[in-house]
Amino acid sequence: MNITYLDNAASSWPKPPEVAKAMMECVQQYGANPGRGGHQLAMKASKVIYQTRVKLAQLFSIKNPNDIFFMMNATMALNQAIKGYVKPGMHVITTSLEHNSVRRPLEFLRKTMGIDVSYIKPENYEFSLADIREAIRENTGLIVVSHASNLLGTIAPIEEIGRLARENHIPFLVDASQSAGILPIDVETMHIDMLAFPGHKGLYGPQGTGGLYVHPSIDLEPYFHGGTGSHSENIDQPKTRPDRFESGTVNTPGIAGLRAGVEFVLRTGVNVIRKKEWELAKEAMVQLKDVKGVHVFGPDENCERLAVIPFIMDGVDASELAYILDQQYNIAVRAGFHCSPLAHETAGTLETGSVRVSFGYFNEKEDIDTLVSALKEIREAFV
Ligand SMILES: Cc1ncc(COP(=O)(O)O)c(C=O)c1O
Repeated sequence: MNITYLDNAASSWPKPPEVAKAMMECVQQYGANPGRGGHQLAMKASKVIYQTRVKLAQLFSIKNPNDIFFMMNATMALNQAIKGYVKPGMHVITTSLEHNSVRRPLEFLRKTMGIDVSYIKPENYEFSLADIREAIRENTGLIVVSHASNLLGTIAPIEEIGRLARENHIPFLVDASQSAGILPIDVETMHIDMLAFPGHKGLYGPQGTGGLYVHPSIDLEPYFHGGTGSHSENIDQPKTRPDRFESGTVNTPGIAGLRAGVEFVLRTGVNVIRKKEWELAKEAMVQLKDVKGVHVFGPDENCERLAVIPFIMDGVDASELAYILDQQYNIAVRAGFHCSPLAHETAGTLETGSVRVSFGYFNEKEDIDTLVSALKEIREAFV
């Protein structure tokens, strides 16, 4: 079936062919348990996992690859970072564009630990550093910001926020779910203390992969305790990284696939990927605005934004529109609230939800033409 896939912000698809090849090789040729045995196959599996850490460290300018811990997805990484760091009595600053993967752990800790959370709202889709500065209190222990919004495509001024956090000695956690592999990220120059990222979006790895980088100066409690294949005689979780944060068997085939995905990103270049997606975003915004009855949200095409575009169509429910696009036109989009009710509140779409199209490196301009001509037909049928 010929699908026009416009749901890359959820999971990128298709993947570069070498991703499936690497996963297959792992399962067929060396799929033993890494770090649990000294035999050749276990060593090969451990090597591939370490090489993946090295590639990720290269991509994000991380000095020590062992400061990267593999997780199942960005949600698990964010939970580990937030619940492993926040203490009773702490105040946390975050934004009104966060995904539920940030909001829910924080609200859970508010209920169970009595922490305080401030949500900074953007003005015309832009965050003011002054607002963040003013929100800082004596007991502010963490700043958490999503690098780019999964609903509106807005990009936060991460480097400036990182500098502000550093000046005030407050650790800075960045949710790079929408930006890893798509926007340049340098944890050193951006003063990022913790970076949570999925493997299955802009890094072109498979689902079931993701990671968390934690600066060596950050003292984090592990979320999971158990077998690490190291210091087994000790009843306590080992202190050494990454073992401390990787209890249980890791997803070796997935991580092998992720290595191939990250290699693809490094080979292609984040700037090349960004440029292509940015051009698709601009073209899509212009064409979508031209469809009668369609309203596009988020910064306009002249502003720096991601290739993530939410819109609604007058007279057609967002879920119904997505269903018609899928069933009648083979166009895959996402409808609803995208796990980000706060962002919908900010955009004024809390009542309606929205359809979201999101482009990846493998989309072409023809995909926009296909979408727009389908929308025009649907609009005709509904008026
Ligand atoms: C901004 C943001 N944060 C967190 C997540 C959660 O990512 P995952 O599905 O890898 O847990 C997403 C997923 O869409 C997201 O867009």
